[in-house]
Amino acid sequence: MSTHKPLVIGNWKLNPGTAAEAKALCIAIRKKLKKDAPVTVVVAPPFPYIADLTRLSPTGRIMVAAQDVFSEDSGAFTGEVSAGMLASLGVTQVIIGHSERRAMGETDAQVAAKVAAALRRKLTPVVCVGETVRDGSGSHFGVVEAQVRALAAGLTARALAAIVIAYEPIWAIGTGKNATPEDVEEMHLFIRTLLTKLYDRATGKRVRIIYGGSVKPENAAALHGAGMDGFLVGGASLSAESFNKIILAVLPA
Ligand code: PGA
Repeated sequence: MSTHKPLVIGNWKLNPGTAAEAKALCIAIRKKLKKDAPVTVVVAPPFPYIADLTRLSPTGRIMVAAQDVFSEDSGAFTGEVSAGMLASLGVTQVIIGHSERRAMGETDAQVAAKVAAALRRKLTPVVCVGETVRDGSGSHFGVVEAQVRALAAGLTARALAAIVIAYEPIWAIGTGKNATPEDVEEMHLFIRTLLTKLYDRATGKRVRIIYGGSVKPENAAALHGAGMDGFLVGGASLSAESFNKIILAVLPA
C-alpha cells in the first residue's frame, strides 16, 4: 500500500469545448468532493481555462495543473507559456512529457528542460513515462529505464523528491485496456528500485509514482491497491461522476 497522500489528476486534454463547460465541470467535481477528504485532487484543463478555474477554487481544494510548459522564462517564443506565467495564475502542478506530446516530437532533453523550468517556479512536475507496446520480451523496462535515467540525469536528490512520475503505458491510453494491477505493481517497484540505485533509498521512497491509462471507476480500487500513489486520468475525468468515483476508490476505507 502507498504511504503517500493519494493524488488524482484529471487530464482534460483538448476538452471541453468552451470556458463555460470547463467551469461547470470543475464546479460539479468540487460539489461531489468531501471537504476534508485525504486526497489531492487536481484538474489539468487547456491553457485558456486555467485562470477561471484557479479563481473557482481559491483555497486549492481542487488544484489546477497545466498540460505542458515551455522551458524558457521569457523571450521571443511565439505561442509558448512559461512556468512563471502559470505560477502567477495559481497553477501548482504541470504535466510534462505526456506521450501525446512526445509523439509530436518532444525529446527527453526537452522534457528535462521543462522539468527544470517548472521546478524554478516551484511547480510540481508530473513527468510521464511509459512504453509504446508490451511484446513479452521485457523491453518495456528498458524504455522506462531510459526515460527515468534521462530525467534523473540533471536532477539533485532534493529536486527529484519533488517530482511525480506518471507511469502511462501508451497502449493503455484511451484504449479501454488498462495495465493489470500486477503489471503496474511490477513497474512501480522497478522505477523505485532504479531511483534507489541512482540516488538513495530515502529519495526513491519520496518520489510519488502514479498510474495512467484507461483508469475508470471499475478498475481504480484494484490499481490503487497495487501500491500506486494515485492516478492520471484522461477520458474518465471529463465526467464529474466517474472522476469522483475514482477519487473515492483511492480514499482509505
Ligand atoms: P485515459 O488517458 O485515461 O483516457 O486513458 C490517460 C492520459 O492520457 O493521461
